[in-house]
Amino acid sequence: MHLQKAKNLSGEITIAGDKSISHRALILSSMAIGTTYIYGLLEAEDVLNTAKALQALGVAMNRSEDGVWEVNGVGIGGLTEPTQILDMGNSGTGARLLMGLVAPYPFNAFFCGDESLTKRPMNRIMNPLKEMGATFVSRSKGRLPIAVIGEENMLPISYKLPVASAQVKTAILLAALNTAGKTTVIEPKATRDHTEIMMADFGIEVDIQDVAGEKHITIEGQQEITVDNKEIGIAGDPSSAAFLVAAALITKGSDIIIKNVCLNKTRAGIFDTLLEMGADITFNNKRCVAGEDVADIAVKYSELKGVEVPVKRVPSMIDEFPILAVVASFAEGKTVMRGLAELKVKESDRLQAIYEGLLACGVKATVGDDSLVVEGGNVKGGTTITTHKDHRIAMSFLVMGLAAEDAVFVDDIASIGTSFPEFFDLCKALGIVVL
Ligand code: S3P
Repeated sequence: MHLQKAKNLSGEITIAGDKSISHRALILSSMAIGTTYIYGLLEAEDVLNTAKALQALGVAMNRSEDGVWEVNGVGIGGLTEPTQILDMGNSGTGARLLMGLVAPYPFNAFFCGDESLTKRPMNRIMNPLKEMGATFVSRSKGRLPIAVIGEENMLPISYKLPVASAQVKTAILLAALNTAGKTTVIEPKATRDHTEIMMADFGIEVDIQDVAGEKHITIEGQQEITVDNKEIGIAGDPSSAAFLVAAALITKGSDIIIKNVCLNKTRAGIFDTLLEMGADITFNNKRCVAGEDVADIAVKYSELKGVEVPVKRVPSMIDEFPILAVVASFAEGKTVMRGLAELKVKESDRLQAIYEGLLACGVKATVGDDSLVVEGGNVKGGTTITTHKDHRIAMSFLVMGLAAEDAVFVDDIASIGTSFPEFFDLCKALGIVVL
């Protein structure tokens, strides 16, 4: 399958709910006593696996015909031991967040995942959770499958994140919810803050201090969360929107609108970078949805220039480097990206996958230990990209095919369902021919 070389994209589309926020909405509504109605939940495989796991942990939820999710929360401390192995599929977020959530319970839970997830590092969450008192049995090098041997009387900790990871931060904060005393996570580099925002939205007291440029996030455990038919809306996913923004930017004559895009500052680095490259993007109808900044964005085809991405911006666009590399291939001059070590431990070794894909399409690029330099120019295409079953690699190179000289095929599209099941439908809505 590929996207036919396009003349111009036009139209107005609405992007589905953000993946990170959707996981958190299911988890935190499960921790509240009472009923929460979630509007606009992302119904992609990763999020559905989190929903299934929470149900296996004793949370009742129900999806209405119009796509509203009703969650009947059990309250903090109210989960029960799952009888089956929790299969988190492809989702690092689901696996890491839920291992944190179940650690302070007097039961054992077994986690597994797909081929990609079983290669990903889990010591980053097991280390702080062990400090709090939980025990784990894992495959060698801290890989899944993993048994979490819960500890009812966990101890609160103060933990400085050794890697800039919102998943690690959230795993600790979720464990802290059911741990007596004050737990603090210290972030030397800011990562996405959806957990803090949503915890506050559920009435949990979250203390956030800036101490010498580092963020200290503290919560007191065992607070009670009660809700009375609470309704929450999920802001649209900027990481998914980025593929369609890129599609419009590289396709001559394009003029599109993408509605409902989350523009939380800890996620919006891709837009800052594209604006610096000269992109014609405007943000309209700015509003707030469940504590998250949202806007409708208008994007027009633009003549772009290469830029150097500031290293401190990397966490706010960590999932967008594959698509940025594609956009950079059509820009004039060099785009320099540094501080990319985390890309090696995503759904695939993305640094290598992007580099090899670029070379296969005839783009000049150089890769370093944690850097990538892309030289824009003629993009030949005319090849099939190895995606390593990574959804973001697949969508990025499909988008490349819109403006490459010859068609760009990818070896797998099934992975796209993990994060963006509407990808092809939205492409079609913008006038793209999917062949
Ligand atoms: C996520 C955090 C990021 C991101 C992932 C989702 C989250 O990972 O890459 O797609 O929902 O917390 P890290 O926190 O490991 O950087």
